[in-house]
Amino acid sequence: MTETVLPRVRAEIDLDALRANVRALRARAPHAAFMAVVKADGYGHGMIPCARAAVEAGATWVGTATPEEALALRAAGIGGRVMCWLWTPGGPWREAVEADVDVTVSGMWALREVTAAARAAGRVARVQLKADTGLGRNGCMPDDWPELVGEALRAQENGLVTVTGLWSHFACADEPGHPSIQGQMDVFREMVAYAEGRGIRPEVRHIANSPATLTLPDTHLDLVRPGIAMYGVSPSPEIGTPQDFGLRPVMTVAAALASVKHAPAGHGVSYGHHYTTPGATTLGLVPAGYGDGIPRHASGSGPVLVDGKWRTVAGRIAMDQFVVDLGGDEPPAGSEAVLFGPGDRGEPTAEDWARAAGTIAYEIVTRIGSRVPRVYVNEGSTGSGD
Ligand SMILES: Cc1ncc(COP(=O)(O)O)c(C=O)c1O
Repeated sequence: MTETVLPRVRAEIDLDALRANVRALRARAPHAAFMAVVKADGYGHGMIPCARAAVEAGATWVGTATPEEALALRAAGIGGRVMCWLWTPGGPWREAVEADVDVTVSGMWALREVTAAARAAGRVARVQLKADTGLGRNGCMPDDWPELVGEALRAQENGLVTVTGLWSHFACADEPGHPSIQGQMDVFREMVAYAEGRGIRPEVRHIANSPATLTLPDTHLDLVRPGIAMYGVSPSPEIGTPQDFGLRPVMTVAAALASVKHAPAGHGVSYGHHYTTPGATTLGLVPAGYGDGIPRHASGSGPVLVDGKWRTVAGRIAMDQFVVDLGGDEPPAGSEAVLFGPGDRGEPTAEDWARAAGTIAYEIVTRIGSRVPRVYVNEGSTGSGD
């Protein structure tokens, strides 16, 4: 019998789970197009494999924050509609126009840059106008909207741009009943009505992120833009668990124990000695730390499954390693320590780590670092996208 040698640490990415999540989300918004949000390296899962899997499962749009991410999708051969939204002056507008990427414009400086790029490229730029309906981040304020819409129409008449979309983003869609949700919808409808009244004919109007896709059908409009739910993680414990929505976590992070040793009572553990063994015990060394994206804020609280039992991080999480008190158990070095996964083997989930670290599960998966190899399972598509 050959023994499996586990790598130091790995993030297993189950692409069948991702495809199934896309299908489950599409079923919740059956009349809307689906934009798979794959920014920040696919929330830590790997942008290109996740984009491919999402497209296989029926996503007709792929969304990124930065233009560089959008261009990387094109360079990897991702066709179809790609949109990006986070620009700074001097960005790669021309490259994006030439790559047929839908670019987002939130203000006059951006419109000027994209029209110049369209002229230089000799191509019509696909432009989506973003409205700030209350998030207070990017997007055009209602007072500035008439000027932006007017200039976009002029650029359209001059053959430089096509306004392909009008969109916005929620502030509190993950807080059921939050009054800003209806408030933002009202403002969005007014801003869309204004633009359409002036003659804009967008292909898509959209505002729904994951929580809105899952719980607010009135917000689905022409297209939904889920990110976190596609990776099988709930946007917030308040709205439910992934299982409540038929979603399956895509990422499992596991390590091989680097050592297991006996320690007497009163032995200080890790930097600062914030943990002292309460009695004679065994200590397991997990060779992953904040250099791998394991949050140091979960020192003393992060959960790990070893040999079928939940253990807790003992003392501080260091850059490369942390310790768990194994309570006298003696699994051999090399045994698997599962930090988080779907939960069906009894392991903790990303939500458990978020609670332990005082953050959100988005951050737990997204910050898993580049030193952790991604291992893709179920890479080949097994089901229909329809
Ligand atoms: C503009 C935009 N749309 C959609 C999303 C997806 O959000 P979520 O991951 O909550 O679904 C994001 C992510 O924050 C975003 O910035």
